[in-house]
Amino acid sequence: MSLDTAEIRSLIREGHVHKRVYTDQAVFDLEMEKIFGNAWLYVAHDSQLRKPGDFVRSRMGKNEVIVTRDHDGAIHVLKNSCPHRGATVCSDKRGNVRNLVCGYHAWAFALDGTLKGLPHPSSYPEDFIIGARENSLGRAPRVEVYRGFVFASLAESGPSLREFLGPMLLAIDNLVDRAPEGEIELCDTGFQLEYRANWKMHHENANDTIHPGVVHESSVTTANRNKNPDTGFDDGQTRQMMRANGFGKREWESIEQYALPNGHSYMGGIYQEGVLVRQENDPTQAEYLAALKDAHGAQRAAEILEINRFNNLIYPNLNINAQYHQLRVVHPVAPDRTMVFAYCFRLKGAPEGVFHRAVRFLSNLSSPASMILGDDAGIFESCDVGLTRSDGVEWVNVQRGLGFDRPHDEGGVSSAATEAPIRTQFTAWLDYMTQA
Ligand code: FES
Ligand SMILES: [Fe+2]
Repeated sequence: MSLDTAEIRSLIREGHVHKRVYTDQAVFDLEMEKIFGNAWLYVAHDSQLRKPGDFVRSRMGKNEVIVTRDHDGAIHVLKNSCPHRGATVCSDKRGNVRNLVCGYHAWAFALDGTLKGLPHPSSYPEDFIIGARENSLGRAPRVEVYRGFVFASLAESGPSLREFLGPMLLAIDNLVDRAPEGEIELCDTGFQLEYRANWKMHHENANDTIHPGVVHESSVTTANRNKNPDTGFDDGQTRQMMRANGFGKREWESIEQYALPNGHSYMGGIYQEGVLVRQENDPTQAEYLAALKDAHGAQRAAEILEINRFNNLIYPNLNINAQYHQLRVVHPVAPDRTMVFAYCFRLKGAPEGVFHRAVRFLSNLSSPASMILGDDAGIFESCDVGLTRSDGVEWVNVQRGLGFDRPHDEGGVSSAATEAPIRTQFTAWLDYMTQA
């Protein structure tokens, strides 16, 4: 069933979203075409693609892609589906190859996806052209890199990557600037988590300051009951992360949210104690600060560390935490199935202890055994059950802060404890979904 524009518009009211937006297959199919088929999507980091022939598997929405580095240095994003019979061409997660060879009948493709050779070429009719586009791997028409972050779009034309990112460029800048050598490396042995609910729930939850004290209450209580482990390994970081979710109402309500154009948003920093605060004071931090000052001077180093944001959502598929060197990528699979890939970065020129903290942060927040993302995924599934049941809620309420938000100089609004980030996601959603 296809949906017309009037029907799409009828699903969004000021402060409310119809449950079909989260559960309906036709809505999901249109999202894949209109949103994931047009927007710039993060696909890889160039530290995964250092040499010609390097490749890494990734996703664009529900489609698998292969991101390659060609001999001339260009990066290509290719559909991981063979034009012969549709088989998955590449099943390795990453590697280095001369050609991509399909595992079914050995059609071989160059690093830009062009068919180069196949078995029994002389047995094909004359109008079969090796190298023709229709016999080659599908390729994203636009690929752009911003400071090492590789984005691709399936649309032939549209805003440039810089225009699309707008004020969110600072999220990427601040992450890269935190490296004394001005370069970061993705640690691509990250985590993959799949939950049984809609992709948008992850984004709506990421910049929500009311749920943590409720949803994460069990780990808050455990952390409050136990002293720091005296292992000399964790520095109390895990306990501090758990405890931070247990802020009182007044503390959560004081954290600012910023809702920006194109569905993007970010929230202010939440950690206030120990090794997680902005100006932490310990030997690892002292060593790091010395390296950053050596590289940039004291004033610039202070400016870089002064930026105190928690989650930076780049709609529709990326969430960056610059301060703790984390990345989460959200991939829709079905209306009620979503994959989340989570990684951390190594900052070049920073002491090893900084990387250890990033790994610990990643494990605490995003591993399948995490006491934080696991709780969140559980609540998404509980919402999905409520929205899917015939007697469940019909209109989801996103009114918190409506009418209280203040204009923001980056073109959106800001307010504490608001649901404005969700509302700006639906403004962008409606724009994408109703464009010709
Ligand atoms: S399906 Fe790929 S070569 Fe046959
Ligand atoms: Fe949460």
